[in-house]
Amino acid sequence: KRVAILLSGGGSNMVALAESMTGDHPARPCLVLANSERAGGLQKAAARGIPTAVVDHRPFRGDRPAFEAVLNDRLEAASPDIICLAGFMRVLTEGFVARWQGRMLNIHPSLLPKYRGLETHVRALAAGDAEHGCTVHEVTPALDDGPILGQARVTIEPGDTAETLAARVLIMEHRLYPAVLRRFAAGDRRPVFLP
Ligand code: GRF
Repeated sequence: KRVAILLSGGGSNMVALAESMTGDHPARPCLVLANSERAGGLQKAAARGIPTAVVDHRPFRGDRPAFEAVLNDRLEAASPDIICLAGFMRVLTEGFVARWQGRMLNIHPSLLPKYRGLETHVRALAAGDAEHGCTVHEVTPALDDGPILGQARVTIEPGDTAETLAARVLIMEHRLYPAVLRRFAAGDRRPVFLP
């Protein structure tokens, strides 16, 4: 299976995914695509010999379908079987999602359905939640929705800040996403729960 990974930032989730796709793993990374040439994940992908691409969203200001037409062409050229959104910070329209639905995953730093959207750690702390975590789900047109393929939980500790909590969640993201991808690539849709 060929896996394309979309990112916007440092790409720590991309690194975890790429490093998991070895040996008898049924998938290999075929492309890392960023929506900005400044995304740190591009250098990490290149250092691992993974083909990279940039489709900057800014020239398309406001014309989301036009951006996605270029994005889609670049993806089609890599013939991915699976797309992993990994810290990809652009909202995708229904048209793009429909093209890849059933083969596109996303990781979100909350225990969905709680805290869709941004600032999830701040919101969990403000709510006084006892625990927090991350979720891998199939991408559907609704934001941070779709069938859950995995979740990992962390306990919120006294004195936690958004930064300390985010750091602990990110460590779990790096364990959860590769575990979910391995199952998904083998055609197994049973969800993964950690611990
Ligand atoms: C992190 O906030 C993570 O929780 C979310 O995307 C952001 C960047 O992750 N999934 P990465 O280091 O670029 O993978």
